[in-house]
Amino acid sequence: MISYDNKIILAPMVRIGTLPMRLLALRYGADIVYTEELIDWKFLRSKRKYNAILHTVDYVDQTDGTIVFRTCCEEKEKVVLQLGTSDVSRALKVAQIVQSDVAAIDINMGCPKEFSIKGGMGVALLAKPDKAYNILSTLVNNLSIPVTCKIRILDTKEETLKVVNYLVSSGIKAIAIHGRTRDERPQHAVHTDVIKYVAERVSIPVIANGGSKEIEKYNDILKFKDITGCTSVMIARAAEWNCSIFRKEGLLPMDSVIKDYLKLAVDYDNSPSNTKYCIQNILRDLQETPRGRQFLECQTLDQICAIWDLQEYCKEKQSCHQKLGIQGRWQVSP
Ligand code: FNR
Repeated sequence: MISYDNKIILAPMVRIGTLPMRLLALRYGADIVYTEELIDWKFLRSKRKYNAILHTVDYVDQTDGTIVFRTCCEEKEKVVLQLGTSDVSRALKVAQIVQSDVAAIDINMGCPKEFSIKGGMGVALLAKPDKAYNILSTLVNNLSIPVTCKIRILDTKEETLKVVNYLVSSGIKAIAIHGRTRDERPQHAVHTDVIKYVAERVSIPVIANGGSKEIEKYNDILKFKDITGCTSVMIARAAEWNCSIFRKEGLLPMDSVIKDYLKLAVDYDNSPSNTKYCIQNILRDLQETPRGRQFLECQTLDQICAIWDLQEYCKEKQSCHQKLGIQGRWQVSP
């Protein structure tokens, strides 16, 4: 059973937290990896399939064939599926379907985006603690894996503690706290004092989040853990920019990280658009260089691989996938 004590965690990130990035984070040293937020009703449109070529479990959208969620053995004990939901019965349905493929389920109660709030999801749930509690306790009582949630802080530390205590009483195993209010943005300072105040007063592991602006090397993760008095830390942007932040041995150069990421993207047949998006977020300003502009023109995985001298690797893997594909790409799950 997954434990949340003394862990360094890859935060949920839409479009970034797909399988190749999660595996990269684990291989660099992350203890736990969260998926990107998956919206309950989109998940319910998908069908579970075992992919016999890639040895993955794929949840495939029945309307357009896209992969909603792809996972594999390597991450099974360490992957937490984050759900975007505003509805207890939909949340339970998804969780029951997916619980044999993941280590835990997390409910997103921190997203301030309009799409989430309008749908009653994300931080909107924090404004309705009874509803939030009901979703969590229903999952806790009906699942065989741990349930957690990720929240933002409220306007005062006392209010934050009050809502956290209420959510904790649902039986969740841990709570991630992003130390910003719903109206604060990433450039605002993170309120480490509020996270610390709460962490000192609740009985379950608190996972500190929001420190990326000050996290430039592995040691800064430990500093953030110390300042917030939390047992565990969750990293988003610092990992999005350079996933080797999880390495105790130190950061790797950007090109090494891109190469390691690209190999996993090829191994797991990640979509070119998602692969490109993740690399764009590693390159950032360097997209303006001649190599960056060449990269932006790429439309296929082999074109992207060519820029990082991985064309042979890509060709071999893809032809291997194709050969196996003749026998049928999707098989009934074992
Ligand atoms: C996020 N964040 C986020 N949070 C969440 O609960 N579910 C999600 O799907 C996402 N998606 C997402 C995408 C991207 C690109 C970013 C940068 C952020 C918020 C994230 O998990 C985290 O709470 C904040 O970024 C603060 O942590 P850092 O970046 O300071 O470590």
